[in-house]
Amino acid sequence: MDRVEELKREAGIAACSFVRDGMRIGLGTGSTVKYTVIEIGRMISEEGIDVIGVPTSEATRELAESLRIPLSTLEEVTSLDITIDGADEFDSDFQLIKGGGGALTREKRVAEKSESMVVVADDRKQVVTLGEFHLPLEVGKDDWHIVVTKLQEICPGQVSLRGGESPYVTDNDGYILDCEFGPTISDPASLEGQIRSIDGVVEVGLFVDICDAVVMASPSGVTTLLKQGGRLD
Ligand code: A5P
Repeated sequence: MDRVEELKREAGIAACSFVRDGMRIGLGTGSTVKYTVIEIGRMISEEGIDVIGVPTSEATRELAESLRIPLSTLEEVTSLDITIDGADEFDSDFQLIKGGGGALTREKRVAEKSESMVVVADDRKQVVTLGEFHLPLEVGKDDWHIVVTKLQEICPGQVSLRGGESPYVTDNDGYILDCEFGPTISDPASLEGQIRSIDGVVEVGLFVDICDAVVMASPSGVTTLLKQGGRLD
């Protein structure tokens, strides 16, 4: 296992300190939170904890099923105790860019239904200002051309259809646009509002005021950053 993979694993496992018997847990998507899901599977089989997971993607559902984690759906649960998920970037206000794996819409719905959200990441994801990572948006398949035209009025860099001529299709049967804002997103709430007002946009990969803690692994160890005044503070 290379060093970055090792850091992902350390962060993913450390976040399970937030997991308690009886919880309903939103299970995120990606190469870091995969280790959280595997650890939850271990806690169920070896420690006998009793939890229910709500997966944020088909990939996570398949992984969780293979680990025999009892699952429910977003539609079936009224609320979740916690969501643990990865992020592509986080800033010092715990605002996030997500959607590198294309699952942003379900990830946001699950996180919004949760009483708290913990992000698992290695220290490469920590930024001063969001936007170096391209901002993903989910758009309707029939609307993406018009959305690109509108986005070009507000995005200083390129806006591209993920997958190009063979577009990437999300679990919701939508497309993803990747927008190169560069590290300019100092007011994510206002940018999110601006983008959401464009017809055809299904969801924006900005997670504003949703994350309560980041479990971050770096070469010097794992640190849990708690948002002051957040739901886990
Ligand atoms: C999935 O759509 C994303 O939001 C991921 O959570 C995010 O891209 C982080 O993934 P990694 O842990 O694989 O970097």
